[in-house]
Amino acid sequence: MREELLSPSETEEEIVDEPGLRPRTLDEFVGQAELKGHLGVVLGAAAKRREAADHLLFAGPPGLGKTTLANIIAAEMNTHLQVTSGPALERAGDLASILSKLEDGDVLFIDEIHRLPRPVEEVLYPAMEDFRIDVVLGKGPAARSIPLDLSPFTLVGATTRTGLITGPLRDRFGLVARLDYYDVDDLQLIALRAARILDVDITDEGAWEIARRSRGTPRIANRLLRQVRDYAEVERDGHIDAAVAADGLKFFGVDTLGLDKASRAVLDAICRRFNGGPVGLSTLAISVSEPTETVEDVYEPYLIQQGLLMRTPRGRVATPAAYDHMGMTAPPAAPTAPGLFDTDS
Ligand SMILES: Nc1ncnc2c1ncn2[C@@H]1O[C@H](COP(=O)(O)OP(=O)(O)O)[C@@H](O)[C@H]1O
Ligand SMILES: [Mg+2]
Repeated sequence: MREELLSPSETEEEIVDEPGLRPRTLDEFVGQAELKGHLGVVLGAAAKRREAADHLLFAGPPGLGKTTLANIIAAEMNTHLQVTSGPALERAGDLASILSKLEDGDVLFIDEIHRLPRPVEEVLYPAMEDFRIDVVLGKGPAARSIPLDLSPFTLVGATTRTGLITGPLRDRFGLVARLDYYDVDDLQLIALRAARILDVDITDEGAWEIARRSRGTPRIANRLLRQVRDYAEVERDGHIDAAVAADGLKFFGVDTLGLDKASRAVLDAICRRFNGGPVGLSTLAISVSEPTETVEDVYEPYLIQQGLLMRTPRGRVATPAAYDHMGMTAPPAAPTAPGLFDTDS
């Protein structure tokens, strides 16, 4: 498998991902049972017909395994993976040149596919549907469009929210799958697996302590494991049980719900500065010095899932549970938690 065209938009988080921890097969991929079942059928059927698999779209917050799945698909289909991203493809020609070089059955992974410029996205439509692009030669009235046949390929797209994808693009995927936050049992398995690979001495209880503070996210479980390992090596004898894990996590500022400084800053701003809300997304983002997209896609989904924050038509509102968690007293008029997981609004 070769990987080309590393996306320039890779976040710092992704660069610090330990490459050895990425599962390489569907079997090694923990959790997401339903999605794995669907993928098994799609890939199995394609292999049987000796065809490229249907185009696949993965949606979900960062760190849940979208890039990992793209790698697994290429590996399971025994083919090449080409990697690029929405923001990296500035002009239609950038995409056309990648598409024309694909070989039969290759997997093309477009990360952050919702950030493709519209003219580039339009090149994808016939490419996905008929494995064909139209190359325009010349300019003005003399311009001619020449159809160019492509090798059949599988497009794998990743996005933080399906709601960000245009209808015509979404309709061209054979499977649109949402990745959900992982439960604590799955995250415990992920932490134990990573500990085995990294040769970390940890008990089941130690792994569970890390899992329950990982905000439902494998990438965070792996990161917390490494932090706790460092703490255990420097401050203790290297062995990690529940108590050492708890101490290590406290040392690095991870609270009992797994909220880090940035997530707490969001809650703190709503509760303290905006008196519980409602406060508009852009105002909130400015007050915590983060891009609106980061607040909306990275911090809010988990806060909403935990019943700490609500999205209302008038803005973001902190729930009584948020005040409780932050050790503050809620103002008398604070609304009650809906407990809804609603990221696409
Ligand atoms: N289901 C899983 N099982 C085990 N580890 C996982 C799983 N999903 C993600 N990971 C780990 O989390 C890291 C981040 O996953 P990644 O695929 O890069 O997330 P995304 O692309 O959705 O942001 C990976 O490097 C891998 O180590
Ligand atoms: Mg990714």
